Amino acid sequence: MNILLTGGAGYIGSHTAVVLAQAGHRVVLYDNYSNSKPTVVQRLQNILGEPLKAIEGDVRDTELLTSVLKEEQIDAVIHFAGLKAVGESSQKPIAYYSANVQGAISLLQAMERAQIYRIVFSSSACVYGDPQYLPIDEAHPTVPTNPYGRNKLQIEQLLQDVAQSDVGKQARWQIANLRYFNPVGAHVSGLIGEDPQGIPNNLMPFVAQVAVGKLPQLQVFGNDYPTPDGTGVRDYIHVMDLAQGHLAALDYLNEHYGFNTFNLGTGQGYSVLQMVHAFERASGNTIAYQIQGRRAGDIASCYAKADKALQELHWHTERNLEDMCASAWKWQTYCNSLGAN
Ligand code: NAD
Ligand code: UD1
Repeated sequence: MNILLTGGAGYIGSHTAVVLAQAGHRVVLYDNYSNSKPTVVQRLQNILGEPLKAIEGDVRDTELLTSVLKEEQIDAVIHFAGLKAVGESSQKPIAYYSANVQGAISLLQAMERAQIYRIVFSSSACVYGDPQYLPIDEAHPTVPTNPYGRNKLQIEQLLQDVAQSDVGKQARWQIANLRYFNPVGAHVSGLIGEDPQGIPNNLMPFVAQVAVGKLPQLQVFGNDYPTPDGTGVRDYIHVMDLAQGHLAALDYLNEHYGFNTFNLGTGQGYSVLQMVHAFERASGNTIAYQIQGRRAGDIASCYAKADKALQELHWHTERNLEDMCASAWKWQTYCNSLGAN
């Protein structure tokens, strides 16, 4: 298949490009490089050993998107493009609604014009809000607690309505809505990975930068949660496993119509301190940390029930905590050698 990856130069998109290309698909990246760099395309070509098409463009540019979809004879779209920093979404809600919600509307308009009806959407576990029970299954209520999460939920609702518009007619839309838990790690080559701008907000990029000596110490946000060691528990998923989930979702859509939601997580939670110690083992370096008060808006524990993806997508995670940390460390040392992040 010919697959367009909006936001394909970003963290998850670039890893998914590798998995799809290695599975025999032709991948086209479409990105405005607002949170990535064009240099990732060369590194992807080095991994793949073949040329890769990348187009610079904004998802809100419906005209350009429509012509790309037609000219590249695209069969399916994976929609990664958007803004993703939870804290920033409260500071810049208009920018978030524009890139995320307006971006999704523009993409769907372009797809309709080009008569392409197959889409995989990058949603997030943050649509669930504060967990009402654990593990979180797909039927858990959706009560997002920040503008970013509300953007994701609104796009999900838009996609649901789009799928619903087929009812009573010949079915056209084939939609997989993937709710990611906490993606971490990098490709085994260490040539691509998460490259946050400025000081990282998320735990693992922060830990990696402490391990490499770029940041002095980690602030652990709270050790008084009702968890085994008092620190927050999350469902960290290796980005290559996540990337493989997209391939499984595309295969699923070969035979399924309508709107289909799947959690992509491991089902296993790890605490902040477990992650810190695993990273110490992977890097061979001590990670200095200090216990701070809780971060506003944080929850104690969050992890997925991932059974639906196993049963219906025939997908499950294959990489463990050691793989996550080892690959993230390889990528971090590569970045450091380039002075890149
Ligand atoms: P990322 O920022 O690395 O990648 C997003 C890419 O989209 C970037 O390359 C950026 O330049 C591009 N982009 C942003 N706005 C655009 C626009 N208007 N037009 C075209 N390109 C645009 O983020 P990521 O971690 O790879 O996340 C990919 C998707 O997965 C996002 O939709 C994100 O919300 C979602 N998601 C991410 C996480 C996570 O923790 N990384 C968790 C859940 C969901
Ligand atoms: C954050 C987002 C969430 C998003 C997810 C994607 C918030 C409030 N939530 O979730 O919506 O889906 O990223 O990956 O931003 N921690 C520290 N010190 C740090 C950074 C984090 O102790 O410097 C702790 C946090 O308190 C938490 C854990 O590490 O317990 C993971 O944090 P983070 O990586 O930011 O992810 P989430 O909080 O799960």
